Amino acid sequence: MLSRVQHKNLVKFIGACKEPVMVVVTELLTGGSLRKYLVNMRPRCLEPRVAVGFALDIACAMDCLHSHGIIHRDLKPGVSIFFVIVLLPSSLVYCVYQRRKVATIKRKYFQQYGGHLLLEEMKSEQGFSFRIFKEEELIEATNNFDEKNKVAEGGSGIVYRGTIDNKLVAIKKCKTIGERERKEFDKEMLILSQLNHKNIVTILGCCLEVEIPVLIYEFISEGTLFDLLHRKCDVDIPLHTRLKIAQETAEALSYLHSWASPIIVHRYVKSFNILLDENFVAKVSDFGASVLTPSGEGQFVTHVQGTLGYLDPEYVQTGQLTVKSDVYSFSVVLLELLTRKMAFCTEELQVRSLVADFYSAIKENNVVAILDVKITGDEENMDVITKLVELVRKCLHMEGEMRPEMRQVAASLEASVRAMNNLQPREGIGLI
Ligand SMILES: Nc1ncnc2c1ncn2[C@@H]1O[C@H](COP(=O)(O)OP(=O)(O)O)[C@@H](O)[C@H]1O
Ligand SMILES: [Mg+2]
Repeated sequence: MLSRVQHKNLVKFIGACKEPVMVVVTELLTGGSLRKYLVNMRPRCLEPRVAVGFALDIACAMDCLHSHGIIHRDLKPGVSIFFVIVLLPSSLVYCVYQRRKVATIKRKYFQQYGGHLLLEEMKSEQGFSFRIFKEEELIEATNNFDEKNKVAEGGSGIVYRGTIDNKLVAIKKCKTIGERERKEFDKEMLILSQLNHKNIVTILGCCLEVEIPVLIYEFISEGTLFDLLHRKCDVDIPLHTRLKIAQETAEALSYLHSWASPIIVHRYVKSFNILLDENFVAKVSDFGASVLTPSGEGQFVTHVQGTLGYLDPEYVQTGQLTVKSDVYSFSVVLLELLTRKMAFCTEELQVRSLVADFYSAIKENNVVAILDVKITGDEENMDVITKLVELVRKCLHMEGEMRPEMRQVAASLEASVRAMNNLQPREGIGLI
């Protein structure tokens, strides 16, 4: 029978052999049966476009047989008839139901995270480049959050590398989603979307259609300052590079403390949260725990939060957080840059704190002993190093009030950079 008809939707007859038993030879179709396909793909949803395509192909094949006066008679319930009459309509209904359900969930998350408010704010802000991304864009950008694209795992989020519009981006997904994480996510989004500074990581947008919130940033290629100092031990870091990183970080913090409105206390200043681009330009990141200071208040009580080795002792004792807590943490970063030692670690069952080591060295009048020999080896560096050590000492003062302001620290570091580059000092703002 097959030899009489040819149609693109009918299996192709090649030949037959009658002896000793009847054997029919047809083309080989590698995809398997429709039933197998439907069984294998469940519980995924059959795309309406694909389902309609299948149905049309089957209908065309039947039409061709009928026009040759042939009735198939064995369209198995398990295959075509069942598919056309039962499976196709139910698949379509199931698809529509699934799509509506997903759309409702996405809408719920969007509202929950204040997406509408954000959109209104974006419309009213001129030149505001923050964007709301679709979930599909992120899935495509990261190859469905493939492990291979995982860059790092921080305290609260997992960061993936992705490409959107031919641009590399970093995509941070919260690890868990409780009330605290949601608040941190909201805060980071709110703070970063208002900031514009060359030494603060740029946020590009967020995705609000998902259960676990996602933030999207410019991609900073060289990792963290922590990695550079403590993991890439074979990389030589000249003093002027260390100084430049310190100065740029200080500029960013000075901007948060003096120019942002309301003033922002970062609260988690540490080498883990300072990213470096391909030119070693520092970018301060991770604003989830940051605090916007209530207007006019220089200090306020919060529950103590921070990282061992960087925590301001006055804040730990009183619970009062001020911008000077960031000054303290920053000076620990400066010490890391000068010593290439970690802020806090356990060595041979002993706890080691860099600040404690610094104080011991000062007591013994031998600070050079804890500094990195790679920078102390050069006699020409010693003037600048002595100034930096003095700056660290002032910033580590036990009383916050006695510590310099961040803008004074930034100005002082800039003066050191200029001195190293044999440039004239600038008219300084409150140099210390
Ligand atoms: N914009 C970025 N570009 C490249 N890597 C990043 C970026 N943002 C974060 N990372 C990497 O992800 C890690 C965790 O990000 P972070 O914002 O600090 O989250 P957490 O709150 O979980 O600490 C960082 O230490 C860094 O290694
Ligand atoms: Mg972090």
